[in-house]
Amino acid sequence: MTTATVSPNATAATEIPGSEAGFDARRAAAGRPLAAVTGAEIQAPLIHGGHIRYANLDYGASAPALSVVSAYLNEILPYYASVHRGAGYASQISTSVYENARNIVREFVGGRPDDSVIFTRNTTDSLNLLAGCLPVTDGRPDGDVLYLDIEHHANLLPWQGVPHRSIVAADTIVGTIAAVRTELEQGGVSLLAVTGASNVTGEILPIRTLAALAHDHGARIVVDAAQLAPHRRVDIAADDVDYLAFSGHKLYAPFGAGVLVGRPDWLDAGTPHLAGGGAVKEARLDGVSWATGPARHEGGSPNVLGAATLARATQVIAGLDLEQWHAHESAIRSFLVEGLQQIAGVTVHQIFKDTNPDTDTIGVVNFSVEGYDAGLVAAYLSAEHGVGLRDGRFCAHPLLKRLGLPSGSLRASFGVGSRLEDAERLLAGIAALRSNGLGWDYVVDAGRWVPANDTRTYPQWAPNTPGTAGAAPCIDD
Ligand SMILES: Cc1ncc(COP(=O)(O)O)c(C=O)c1O
Repeated sequence: MTTATVSPNATAATEIPGSEAGFDARRAAAGRPLAAVTGAEIQAPLIHGGHIRYANLDYGASAPALSVVSAYLNEILPYYASVHRGAGYASQISTSVYENARNIVREFVGGRPDDSVIFTRNTTDSLNLLAGCLPVTDGRPDGDVLYLDIEHHANLLPWQGVPHRSIVAADTIVGTIAAVRTELEQGGVSLLAVTGASNVTGEILPIRTLAALAHDHGARIVVDAAQLAPHRRVDIAADDVDYLAFSGHKLYAPFGAGVLVGRPDWLDAGTPHLAGGGAVKEARLDGVSWATGPARHEGGSPNVLGAATLARATQVIAGLDLEQWHAHESAIRSFLVEGLQQIAGVTVHQIFKDTNPDTDTIGVVNFSVEGYDAGLVAAYLSAEHGVGLRDGRFCAHPLLKRLGLPSGSLRASFGVGSRLEDAERLLAGIAALRSNGLGWDYVVDAGRWVPANDTRTYPQWAPNTPGTAGAAPCIDD
């Protein structure tokens, strides 16, 4: 259904803002990808005709697979077979790869030797799993789960099914820590659930401080590291984090696989996440003895290749030179933020006033463009500039509402496969939008902005519906 049309203005060449200061240094740090990713050179069709290299600025949703990981996948694919149950050669190899993936992931997150490493569908699944393992005494939950209002729905909704409390984060990190302390001092909190880095703004939370605070008040902490783990070294033993969840698809591995790592006692006593084959010691017609360890929660045939590629990706990320890694990401981020801030009518959003942009942010930049719906800007950038980024409310409705963005904003996110040129392309597109307006007609179709009369085609093997396939469920109420 078409509900609106927006028409183009005349186009003209536009200066790229932010391209002078420190450009050479940034070019040196991020002129090229830090690591090769699969699909880095795919060509996106433009609405005016022709193609351009796709500038993928949507890593925060799903990052492209590392080329090393794609090669590894090809290597192990011939041996892919059922795990745990087969005596055959391929089954044995698959089982060994799958079980060894746990050790690799444990090492990646700096896990304690007895930490459980449970493979799941994704971060959402991991946190739901933990929600089923909160301790109960004499049928009553031992305490509440405490969470902030800045969380992704994955770290918010699972806790709404158990006793919980939420608090509004302050406008500084310091104030937020104080607010968490005040709430913990009330007592009765069993678990503090907090994100490692905001998927909306890329701001990092002080995990070690929050872990100490939780423990001082008799609570445990779970960190949603879906965004943090692809951008920062994580060390749960050093930071004294009890549970950590993240997803392979945001960490340069294909397939949906996630992981929950953490202390085994709650997990071994908790409700099995998926009742079924593999999760039991013994099943009877009217009863069951559940297994302990990861098997308790991994009923059914596991996602062997998801776990294996996730593990392989962690090895590559762990092998990055720390300085180069951060310099690469921070060069793109600072270039983008400074460039956006130079364009009249563009606002860059952040949650906290005291975030240090050099040390406490990951490759995520959130912004909006005055006078334009975020979805329209995203459709324009894709159709006219070959830039892919995210618009909407980023599955963080409470935060977006509090930030005064109830109808959403734009998010550019990037990582090891990105290059400065991707950010340049985005800036040029936004600058052109501000000075020249749209270069095409856009309409709202099925709730999404799309170019009118779009004749671009998908590859032969994909459904030919450009624009309409991208409806983001978190946009809707
Ligand atoms: C911070 C954060 N937590 C959790 C999730 C959910 O991850 P998944 O979709 O892999 O379950 C996301 C996904 O965007 C995220 O950004």
